[in-house]
Amino acid sequence: MKGAEYLKKIIQGDHKYRDLFENNRDGVYITTLDGTVVDVNNAIMKLTGYSRKEFFRKHSTEHYVNPADRIKFQNTIKKDGFVKDFLVALKTKSGKHLYCMLTSTGLRDDRNKIIGYHGIIHDVTEIKTKERIISENEKKFRDLFESSPDPIFVESLNGTVLDVNRAACRLHGVSRDKLTGRHFTALIPKGYRKLVKNNFDNFVSGKLNRLESYSIGKDNKIIPVELRVSNITYESKPAILIHVRDISERKKAEEKLKSSYEQLRQLAKHLQNAREEESSRIAKELHDELGQAVTVLKLELAFIGNKLSAGILNDDDICVLKEKTRSLMELVNGSIDSVRRISAHLHPVILDELGLIPAIEWYTGDFTKRTGIICTARLYSDGGAILNPDVSVAIFRIIQESLTNIIRHSSATAVRIFLNMKKTHLSVKISDNGKGFDINRLDEMRSNGITGMNERALSIGGVLIVSSKINKGTIISLSIPVP
Ligand SMILES: Nc1ncnc2c1ncn2[C@@H]1O[C@H](COP(=O)(O)OP(=O)(O)OP(=O)(O)O)[C@@H](O)[C@H]1O
Ligand SMILES: [Mg+2]
Repeated sequence: MKGAEYLKKIIQGDHKYRDLFENNRDGVYITTLDGTVVDVNNAIMKLTGYSRKEFFRKHSTEHYVNPADRIKFQNTIKKDGFVKDFLVALKTKSGKHLYCMLTSTGLRDDRNKIIGYHGIIHDVTEIKTKERIISENEKKFRDLFESSPDPIFVESLNGTVLDVNRAACRLHGVSRDKLTGRHFTALIPKGYRKLVKNNFDNFVSGKLNRLESYSIGKDNKIIPVELRVSNITYESKPAILIHVRDISERKKAEEKLKSSYEQLRQLAKHLQNAREEESSRIAKELHDELGQAVTVLKLELAFIGNKLSAGILNDDDICVLKEKTRSLMELVNGSIDSVRRISAHLHPVILDELGLIPAIEWYTGDFTKRTGIICTARLYSDGGAILNPDVSVAIFRIIQESLTNIIRHSSATAVRIFLNMKKTHLSVKISDNGKGFDINRLDEMRSNGITGMNERALSIGGVLIVSSKINKGTIISLSIPVP
């Protein structure tokens, strides 16, 4: 008997089989060895959307999304006599993919020869779709996890590292498998372990989600880090997710800020002391020079007054009085000079009256006279710039402080001041031929003079650069835009 007819006979002949066939909720089919559909139940119609007639018209292979699956299926049956839970994708009438678990055996004739297949198709499309979505989501989250520039650690509630991203491997300079399975404390420098350990329970309970600590980075470098923690479920168990951010740059900036605050505080203190010193210097000068002069003046005037009140003056008296008035005149002239000098040092009036260039000329001339250090000033102006008084005073004070430093520290024999005042820009250079100093040590010197000069330059929108070479001298350059 031919295979297909034999198979039909099997179906029709056995009522129990027929019943099982028709009423099965899974798809049931019978095909010949070459793939001709012999019979299918209603469930297959429902699953595929074909009518019985349409289904019969197609060869089995046409129902497969991947026809090679049918060959695999046939080979398995040939080898084992059956297939179980064989996952295949079939095409529905509308073109959608139907994922099925196929369980099938060969149908044999009375001589035990396989003449066809019968099997059950169990629809797993929904499960497959869910699995696909889950795996797509997993991939999405994995991608996010991996592409984060910050190192991320997943840790169990007892602190064992369960997973890490690429950035974490980069931070520690080791591969993923060298990090997973370790306790997190192994990644923290000894001195800081306690801090994180003590706070770990707070991470777990959600009471704390941010902490600054240190991490052992690549080549055992100690890196300041900020930890941000959130609670998650990882592989169905509660876990914590730790974002680690390298805050070296922030720490450096904080240190710098702290040190410039410190410098400014020092400067403020210095300015206050300087003001006190200045006041007491002026008081002393007033007392020693003017006070004495005025006292002498008073005594001598009293003497002259007495002489005049005594009445008749002889020639000697007149001579004495003449000499007295001459010396008193000298004393008064000296006092006038003292007043001028004291007031010029307090605030050079010349700066207000004649401007910056004459004030510098006067000051450098006085400097050479006082110190013996030759000071040459080349001062140019194209006449276009009108300086705001604040700017003039700032430049003048910077030059003064530079010259004071030269006297105090440089042992220089010559100083040059170059000033070029243009319409939009002003530059000043003060250079000496002294012993110079190591400018890298300026920060630790905690000096106020140069800090003050810097602050003055900044306050008028300028920039001050100090350069110095040991035994080659020092140059202070100031550059200011003229508004
Ligand atoms: N022209 C210079 N030649 C050699 N060393 C200098 C010169 N100018 C500054 N220095 C060095 O730089 C240091 C800092 O100078 P700065 O004016 O800031 O402070 P200071 O003069 O020591 O004290 P002050 O706060 O009273 O000015 C000085 O102590 C000195 O060592
Ligand atoms: Mg100084």
